[in-house]
Amino acid sequence: MAGSIINSNTVIGDFTIINTKASIDHDCVMSKFSSLAPNVTTGGNVTIGEYSALSISATIKHGVSIGRHTVIGAGALLMKNCGDNLIMYGVPAKEIKNVE
Ligand SMILES: CC(C)(COP(=O)(O)OP(=O)(O)OC[C@H]1O[C@@H](n2cnc3c(N)ncnc32)[C@H](O)[C@@H]1OP(=O)(O)O)[C@@H](O)C(=O)NCCC(=O)NCCS
Repeated sequence: MAGSIINSNTVIGDFTIINTKASIDHDCVMSKFSSLAPNVTTGGNVTIGEYSALSISATIKHGVSIGRHTVIGAGALLMKNCGDNLIMYGVPAKEIKNVE
């Protein structure tokens, strides 16, 4: 969408959305059906698993991996890798719920 940025060497899977003003940096992987809400920012070398959703204004530190079917909540700052089927939010983001 308008104002979004995709940096070098990043791979964008099918059926994804990079919403308004979202930025995904270099060498990232956005797996199929994952999404970036408006104003999400990722550092480089970030991996986003299938079906995972990064909510509005979430920030992901460089080098972090996110599992499948995981939601990173609005305004979260994710500093560490996280697994599948989780709701994570806060600054820094913590596991709030496992929704398996
Ligand atoms: C993470 C999320 C899915 C959680 O939703 P939920 O489980 O329905 O949570 P609730 O709305 O029931 O909130 C429960 C509590 O957690 C708090 N909370 C929820 N999400 C939060 C977040 N991202 N950061 C901090 N606190 C949060 C609420 O304020 C509420 O606190 P309270 O009990 O003191 O009132 C949701 O908050 C979110 O971030 N949605 C994304 C919206 C978005 O990005 N839309 C994109 C538009 S294109």
